[in-house]
Amino acid sequence: MDVRSAASAPKQEIRLEDYKAPVFTIDKIDLTFRLHDDHAEVEARSLFKMHGDAGGALQLDGGPFMDLLALEIDGQPVPADQFVKSADFLQIRAVPKTFELGIITKVYPKQNTRLEGLYFSGGNFCTQCEAEGFRHITYFPDRPDVLTRYMVRVEADKESCPVLLSNGNPKESGDLENGRHFAVWDDPHLKPSYLFALVAGDLACQSDSFRTASGRHVELNIFVAERDLDKCDYAMQSLKRAMVWDEEEYGLEYDLDVYNIVAVSDFNMGAMENKGLNVFNTKYVLASPETATDADFDHVEGVIGHEYFHNWTGNRVTCRDWFQLSLKEGLTVFRDQEFSSDMTSRAVKRLDDVRVLRMLQYPEDAGPLAHPVRPEKYIEINNFYTTTVYNKGAEVIRMMHCIIGPEAFRKGMDLYFERHDGQAATCEDFATAMEDASGVDLKQFRLWYSQAGTPKVVVRRERDGEDLILTFEQSCGASPGQALKLPYHMPVRVGLIGPNGGDVKGEIEGDGVWSSSECVLHLRNARQSFRFRNVPEGTVPSILRGFSAPVVLDHDLSDDELAFLAVQDSDAFVRWEASQDLFSRHLVKQVETNGVGHLPELLQQVFVGHLEDKDTDPALIAELLALPSEIALGQKLDVLMPERVHVAREALAKALAGASSEKIIALYHSLTAGHGYTLDQSAKAARRLRNMLLTYIALLPDGEAIIQAHYAQADNMTDCMAALTLIAHSDFAFRDQTLADFYSKWQKNDLVIDKWFAVQAQSKRPDTVARVRALTEHEAFTFNNPNRLRSLISTYSMLNQVRFHEKSGEGYRFLGEMIAKVDEINPQTAARLVAPLGRWGRVEEPRRGFMKDALTSVLKAPNLSDDVRELVEKSLA
Ligand code: ARG
Ligand code: ZN
Repeated sequence: MDVRSAASAPKQEIRLEDYKAPVFTIDKIDLTFRLHDDHAEVEARSLFKMHGDAGGALQLDGGPFMDLLALEIDGQPVPADQFVKSADFLQIRAVPKTFELGIITKVYPKQNTRLEGLYFSGGNFCTQCEAEGFRHITYFPDRPDVLTRYMVRVEADKESCPVLLSNGNPKESGDLENGRHFAVWDDPHLKPSYLFALVAGDLACQSDSFRTASGRHVELNIFVAERDLDKCDYAMQSLKRAMVWDEEEYGLEYDLDVYNIVAVSDFNMGAMENKGLNVFNTKYVLASPETATDADFDHVEGVIGHEYFHNWTGNRVTCRDWFQLSLKEGLTVFRDQEFSSDMTSRAVKRLDDVRVLRMLQYPEDAGPLAHPVRPEKYIEINNFYTTTVYNKGAEVIRMMHCIIGPEAFRKGMDLYFERHDGQAATCEDFATAMEDASGVDLKQFRLWYSQAGTPKVVVRRERDGEDLILTFEQSCGASPGQALKLPYHMPVRVGLIGPNGGDVKGEIEGDGVWSSSECVLHLRNARQSFRFRNVPEGTVPSILRGFSAPVVLDHDLSDDELAFLAVQDSDAFVRWEASQDLFSRHLVKQVETNGVGHLPELLQQVFVGHLEDKDTDPALIAELLALPSEIALGQKLDVLMPERVHVAREALAKALAGASSEKIIALYHSLTAGHGYTLDQSAKAARRLRNMLLTYIALLPDGEAIIQAHYAQADNMTDCMAALTLIAHSDFAFRDQTLADFYSKWQKNDLVIDKWFAVQAQSKRPDTVARVRALTEHEAFTFNNPNRLRSLISTYSMLNQVRFHEKSGEGYRFLGEMIAKVDEINPQTAARLVAPLGRWGRVEEPRRGFMKDALTSVLKAPNLSDDVRELVEKSLA
């Protein structure tokens, strides 16, 4: 079947305000999948109950890529003149009050390159139904507020598909004729269609078990390709840690007899929380010291946790409609962040999360694709699985936690489950539960759900005798469809660092209370002052501790005060932020004046202070030593000047390295000694610092030899990639050979080869755009695998600011071509490539025109998907 010829009419915009509850319920659905080499037959039998009058019509969602083989009501074929079928729905003219609907469809998993619905990956059948994939399997009311009970029978060839999985608990299995066999799965929990899953194939399995707090025995399985069986340990340990954590933190237990995880190599996103049968991108399951970096291990733990936590925040309580997506995603990201903080270092995890938010979400919020955490309209819902819904959504939950406090928050969670278990709920339901549990009015706070854009907060200081007055002004620029914004309720955590470096307190006048060494100020007005009584002269305020609200803060601290906080603050976030501000201030000045200045004494002192700090976690020191990224610096400029940013940053790094070369090299070697590979927090922290030092060493005259040795001696992927990244940036004579050797060593491991592509896409060398283009012709490159596309194309266009924004416009043209090409294969993944081209408002001509030209050329592609069209049109508006 030709996928393209089946294209349907452009989708209409869907609006939150038009939401209507379904007029029927479905008591249960029995599904039978007959899997064959080149197709699958799907028989669905559902018991419908209509709530209106009998004789009304029933409309079901469907897709253009399946054939309808049979349609019956109560066992009788529905006559052809009694139903209409289009590319995306099936309407039956009149249905009785209660009836059994029987449907047989035929689908083509091997032709499904869109990777939604039932598809084929690495020799196995698998499904992805969120958000609207189930409609490509059978005709069904494919919306999250239709919950029903699923019984699933899977039949397939026994030799090619020995493993047959679906949701819930295994019920029955056995042999059939012709070398086929079957398995029946029964899910006792009601669920919406997006949580349905099926996997069939030849998979190896690592098993373990878990006993829940109340004594339920749970079998745990991770299914992977045979060759990957040695890389599942960390995922399994992470799963068990997540299960314990949710019991201890929230009193939430697992609710089935088995928990199955399957790793597939072709996957549009990270992983999927299907009830009892999570399907994961291999990237977030497989990890061994030789193939995965420390960051990869952390991501495995975080994503395993995320999908596990969805069992309550997503599955037991699901979303009423897709506008409520952040109800499950924002909350579950918050939960996985807290889990990772408890498993690793809370301070460093917070920096990592803030960095991601600023690097990905802030640009989204500032550009043409900005939307609220709870969007109000969409054309293609897959385009709203965004960093705003996920990461800003998590910040919204974090702020609630801060405003009402941890005990009330936990009470609110209990109340939320008590009220909504088994239901499809809304963000409003969640906020109400938090409000009722805490007694705190969150009316104004709800603006965080409905208003897009990153608020700006300006804080100014005044002394009045013994008192310190902090005056805050908040504002938020216009976003698409939202010209004016109302003031937010934002929690601002503040401490006061006395002249001797210790925390001091001052009695507050205004809306704030102290707890131990800090207070939470409740900012509610456009302009608001807080008076602290009896604050010693020379006290420096430490503002927005822990990054307590996702805003851009503008303060009036002097360079000396920043340097003081960078060393003295008891809050790790403010310490880091103060260092970053100090570096940024200098660099922005350099960029704006196109200056090549000297190294300011104060910067060097702060840098050396961090190098010599023996009391702080080395992982945090690594971050304190890091210069702000080119992207972070770009965000501080009114007009992005990518080359100047790159040049200024390199110059400062080189000056800092040169001025402290002996200290840097000595610290580097001290971390080398006694550095045996383990995954302990302390060993990971030492590697992080040592590899950060290596980035400075790369800029020293004798750097080349140290990097070569670092690469040669690396006994783990973290150290190996740290060196390879620097080598890929460099002009070292051994550069090309090293990349070639790495490739031949790892060519059988897709996840490692993804790193090989990414490291070249990130190179700051002037020839990068040409090399990236050439890499699309490499034997290992394929347009069919989302991980591969992301590793080369997204890394280049989203993380390599200076090389993407080539003045020739070549980076933009390249991306435009890639979007159109990927769209023919996989619209969801193509759409995820669009955003960088929409940031033309940040650059000047000729770049601006080139970016718009690239977008316009994408629109000219024949058969452009709704996914890409929606984002490109918004990006041009
Ligand atoms: N619910 C999944 C997660 O965040 C994301 C899957 C979304 N997939 C998609 N194609 N939109 O864990
Ligand atoms: Zn999720």
